[in-house]
Amino acid sequence: MLKTRLVAVDKDYPQQQLINAAAEIIRAGGLVAFPTETVYGLGGNALDEDAAAKIYAAKGRPQDNPLIVHIQHIKELEGIVEDVPPGADELMKTFWPGPLTILFRKKPVIPSGTTAGLDTVAIRMPDHRIALELIKAAGVPIAAPSANISGKPSPTCAQDVLEDLNGKIDMILDGGTCPVGVESTVLDLSGPVPLILRPGGLPKEELEKILGHVEIDPGLSPGQRPHSPGQKYRHYAPKAHMTLVEGPVKLQIAKIIDLAGSLESSGKRVGIMATAQTRQEYPLGIVLSVGDRDAPLTISSNLFSILRKFDRLGVDEILAEGISREGLGLAVMNRLYKAAGYNIIKV
Ligand code: TXA
Ligand code: MG
Repeated sequence: MLKTRLVAVDKDYPQQQLINAAAEIIRAGGLVAFPTETVYGLGGNALDEDAAAKIYAAKGRPQDNPLIVHIQHIKELEGIVEDVPPGADELMKTFWPGPLTILFRKKPVIPSGTTAGLDTVAIRMPDHRIALELIKAAGVPIAAPSANISGKPSPTCAQDVLEDLNGKIDMILDGGTCPVGVESTVLDLSGPVPLILRPGGLPKEELEKILGHVEIDPGLSPGQRPHSPGQKYRHYAPKAHMTLVEGPVKLQIAKIIDLAGSLESSGKRVGIMATAQTRQEYPLGIVLSVGDRDAPLTISSNLFSILRKFDRLGVDEILAEGISREGLGLAVMNRLYKAAGYNIIKV
């Protein structure tokens, strides 16, 4: 059991001596959780196979699920990738730092322990001062999956990380809550059409402004085989059983009231994940609003913390409303599908 140090850091002006202490841990092969604009990452030296092994062990992560490598300057790319796929230059210029991860052919310096044996490496530049300063001070790229126990909702504040990983990692840099709240968009540019392997914090519509037509991995549909190893696992899952209701909002509300009624009469504690527009409509259940339907960022930024909150409230069943798939809504619905284990009712 390690002693996990929780260190508060200023997110706008990170204190250099705190960053240096964290960077020293990374260089020595240890693990540091840090905030990014999407979710907290569990960081280790991306060039060190043993550090990667520690990340897998701390998270209980399946061995075939590759890690994302984080850099702080575009110049770092040439040391770690063979080439830059068509379209990537323009995307990096436009969206980095930001919630976009791109696949590259890796150079041998990236050990196969970091990429789960794949010859590609997923790379992103996070839009967060603490993350960027940490990578810079470490002097090496940092491999970082989300800093949660594998399968649980991703952590969007330091307290979430502590809840999952206390005693298993060396340090947590507490930089407050993550503004985007869902993980980065993972993009594969190696085929004839750009392919989104995981919808995320950078909307498909934004990518299409630069790339033209972009497709979503058909393997992400229920029962299919996704291109990205991580997407095949049950994920983001609260302890409670969860049902997602999709369709016109009025019908969603009626269905959820109906389901909540029967669940409560059989003695179950019911949580309802509503929105700012609908929360007043429910006469029963523990009702929490995840955000505003007209401002999807309010929903993405709250999503994982609301799932964790329902767990703390000890509900047996979560009934969640579906939202539009426009913009960030696509990533939110992807996470809700997985959180619900594809337990979906269409009305
Ligand atoms: O926003 C994010 O991306 C966060 C923060 C910490 O940066 N990180 C994150 O990492 O979400 P993780 O490990 O939870 O998810 C990484 C995803 C997985 O679905 C994994 O399968 C996919 O990226 N991935 C990584 N490398 C890949 C590769 N070479 N080929 C295909 N998919 C890859
Ligand atoms: Mg994850």
